[in-house]
Amino acid sequence: MGPGRRRDPTADATRFAGSVARVIPGDIDSERIPTHIAAVMDGNGRWATNRGLKRTDGHAAGEEALFDAVEGALELGVKWFTVYAFSTENWKRSPDEVRFLMKFNESLLQRRCEELNELGVRVRFIGRRDWRVPKRLIRRMDESIELTRKNRRMTLTIAFNYGGRAEIVDAVKAIVDSGIESSKVTEKLVARNLYDPEMPDPELMVRTSGEFRTSNYLMWELAYSELVFTDVLWPDFRREHLFDAVREYQDRDRRFGGVDD
Ligand code: IPE
Ligand code: IPE
Ligand code: MG
Repeated sequence: MGPGRRRDPTADATRFAGSVARVIPGDIDSERIPTHIAAVMDGNGRWATNRGLKRTDGHAAGEEALFDAVEGALELGVKWFTVYAFSTENWKRSPDEVRFLMKFNESLLQRRCEELNELGVRVRFIGRRDWRVPKRLIRRMDESIELTRKNRRMTLTIAFNYGGRAEIVDAVKAIVDSGIESSKVTEKLVARNLYDPEMPDPELMVRTSGEFRTSNYLMWELAYSELVFTDVLWPDFRREHLFDAVREYQDRDRRFGGVDD
């Protein structure tokens, strides 16, 4: 470990109901852990096809990756973890796949929300709750939000029927409806009208499956995020891959348009 680096104490685990302690790998700087990591969980279909399985089996296999990544984020002490579960463009898929994804997400929330609660995770959602999203799923979302709303260890935001452009359009609509004059419109005001005004911008975005694009994810919020891409397909993603992404993030030089000292 270099100067200024220290292993974080793990003793604080007892403060939480959950069983995941804060344990940071020695070569990760505990002082520079991103507050917010956003992930694009991509490659489920290819993972399944490579194995002669149905695309939907890949989505099911992604559940373990999600929970391992959540635990990894907790180990690092990440405060906000956001995952892209269904985009505004994913309605273009076959009715069977869309139906599966709706049911699967509903069942995942039902089966595993209590576990997230025990881990001290607060669950939130961003995205449009339009008529295409089944009522039962909306109910599960609301139950998950309610059950976990007091948790403060980490916020898991699930981007569902989410599009970055849709989010900006919805913010603009809210601003216009508020009757504010254009001279009063600032970046802060736009940010306050996004789906979750409390959510800080992600310092790091990780996308799996070797695709180098953002696919309409967090258009506003990713403006200055570090982007890390990995060839790993989402169902194979584990906390070690998340740690690798954080290592890569810590090697980056974040200048925000300025120059180095
Ligand atoms: C990501 O995996 C999950 C969702 C978009 C719901 P994909 O289903 O996009 O998998 P690939 O990219 O086709 O392999
Ligand atoms: C992005 O992945 C959306 C999610 C992971 C939910 P896609 O697979 O839908 O994105 P494209 O089609 O490769 O851009
Ligand atoms: Mg994909």
